[in-house]
Amino acid sequence: MAKQEDIFKNVISHAKEYGYIFPSSEIYDGLSAVYDYGQNGAELKKNIREYWWKAMVQMHENIVGIDAAIFMHPTTWKASGHVDAFNDPLIDNKDSKKRYRADVLIEDYAEKLNIKAQKEIEKAQKRFGEAFNEEEFVTTNERVVGYLSKREEILKRMGHSLETENLADVKALIEELEIADPDTGSKNWTEVRQFNLMFGTKLGAEAAHAMDLYLRPETAQGIFVNFLNVQKTGRMKIPFGIAQTGKAFRNEIVARQFIFRMREFEQMEMQFFVRPGDEMKWYEYWKETRLKWHMSLGLGKENYRFHDHDKLAHYANAAADIEFNFPFGFKELEGIHSRTDFDLKAHEEHSGKKLQFFDTELNQNYVPYVVETSVGLDRMFLAVFASSLKEETLEDGSERTVLSLPAVLAPTKAAVLPLVKKDGLPEVAREIIEDLKWDFNVAYDEKDAVGRRYRRQDALGTPFCITVDHQTLEDQTVTIRHRDSMKQDRVAISELRGIINEEVSVRKWLMKM
Ligand code: GAP
Repeated sequence: MAKQEDIFKNVISHAKEYGYIFPSSEIYDGLSAVYDYGQNGAELKKNIREYWWKAMVQMHENIVGIDAAIFMHPTTWKASGHVDAFNDPLIDNKDSKKRYRADVLIEDYAEKLNIKAQKEIEKAQKRFGEAFNEEEFVTTNERVVGYLSKREEILKRMGHSLETENLADVKALIEELEIADPDTGSKNWTEVRQFNLMFGTKLGAEAAHAMDLYLRPETAQGIFVNFLNVQKTGRMKIPFGIAQTGKAFRNEIVARQFIFRMREFEQMEMQFFVRPGDEMKWYEYWKETRLKWHMSLGLGKENYRFHDHDKLAHYANAAADIEFNFPFGFKELEGIHSRTDFDLKAHEEHSGKKLQFFDTELNQNYVPYVVETSVGLDRMFLAVFASSLKEETLEDGSERTVLSLPAVLAPTKAAVLPLVKKDGLPEVAREIIEDLKWDFNVAYDEKDAVGRRYRRQDALGTPFCITVDHQTLEDQTVTIRHRDSMKQDRVAISELRGIINEEVSVRKWLMKM
C-alpha cells in the first residue's frame, strides 16, 4: 500500500479514537460521506470558525457578519443560476458500474503530468546543486516543457468544452487520453451527462400545497439577498464586506476522502462589494490576504499554492483556489472569486427590487461588483488536523504520537495532572482548574502514570500539561510541560494564566499575518 494511503488511514482512525470525528449514525453502519464531530472535533471546529471570524469581521471595520437561514425562497436559486447551471459532468464506467466526475478524471490525469515534471526538476536540482537555475530548466528542458504544455493544453480544452456544454468532447478527451477507471482499469465509459447538485425538499404539511425548496448549496446567496438590508441598517460604504459561516448541502456524485468532500458541510464566506472596475485590485488583495491568514497558522509555507481556474463558474470573471497539500496531494482548500455584478443583477431581475448603492463620491448609483472568499470549514479542519498529526522517534529511541495543533486552535489548552492521587495533590489540581477554566478549556487527568498521561495529552493535541507534585504544597509552584518541545519549566501557579495566554491568544497568532 502506498505510504500516502497509510498516512490518511491513520488520520481517520486517530480522529475517531480521540473523539474528533465519527461516522454519522454509526450504530446503523453510517451514512455515506456524512460525519459527526465529537467532543474534541466540535471544539476544534469552533476554534477554526472563530479564528476566521475574528480575522475577517472583528479585524475589519468595513466587514460585518450575518447568519442567514438555510431555507431560502426558491426563486433565489433560479436567479443565482444554480437551478440551471449548478451541475457536475458525470460519467459511468459500464463494467465496474462506478460513477465519476468526468472533469476530476481529467484533472487527475493532468496532475500526474505535473508530478512527472516536478520529479524531473527535483532530479536536476540534485544533479546540478547550487548551480541549478530552475527558471531556465523549466523553460528549456524538453521533457519538462512537454509535460507542462500537455497539461496546460488538456486543462484548456476541458475548460472550453465544459463552458460551451460540449460534453461529447469531454468524453472524447477521456478516450483520447486513455483514462481508465481508477479502481478497475476499464475504459468502457458511458456518455458524459450533467447532474444537478442541489438537494430538494418541501415546505409545508399538505402535499398538494407544499412548496418545493432547496437546501442551500452555498451560503453566499443569503448574503446577496440581504445586501441592501445590511448596507442600509449598517450604513455601510463601498468597499465593504458581509461575512457568514454556516451549513451548505450538495448531492456530490463522488463523495469520498473523508471530510474533504461531504454532502453536508460548512462554509465560511465573505462577499466584498466594490466599485465596478475596482474588482481586479480587490481580487488580488483578497488572494494575498487569505493566503497570509492560512500561513499564520504555521502549517508550512510549502503546503500551499495558488491554482488559477481554467474553467470559470457561471458567475465569475476570475477565480483562483488556494490549494493545500492534503495527505492525498494538493487540492482546493479555499476559493477566491471575482463574481462581477452577476448575483445582485440577477436578484434585481427576478425580484423586481433595486439592489444598488448610491456612491456619494461619484454621485452615481450602481450595482456593486463582488469579490468573494469562500473556505470550507471541514476542509480547514482536515488540513489542520492531518498536517498536525506526527509520529516522532525520541532521543531515547521511544516513539510518540503527537497532534501538534496550532495552540490557538487546540480544543483543550491545558491538562492539570496531580502526580499522585493522594496527599492533597488532586485538591490543588482542582483549585488550579477552577481558576483557569474562566479563560481556557482545561482538563483534569489523574489516571495512569504521569508519563502515560503526557502521551495521551500529546495525542489529543493539548499544548500544555501542568503537573502538581509535593513541592507544589510547599512553594505554590508546578511544572508546565510544552507539548511540542516536551520542555518542562518550574513556574508559580500565579503565572500559569499568563504563560498559557501568551501561547494561545488569537492576537499573537493573527499578528503573524
Ligand atoms: N460561494 C462559492 C462557492 O461555494 P465553491 O468553490 O463551490 O464556491 C467553496 O466552494 C469552498 O467550500 C471550497 O473551497 C471548499 O473548501 C468547500 N466545499 C465545497 N464543496 C464541498 C464539499 N462537498 N465538502 C466539503 N467542503 C466543500
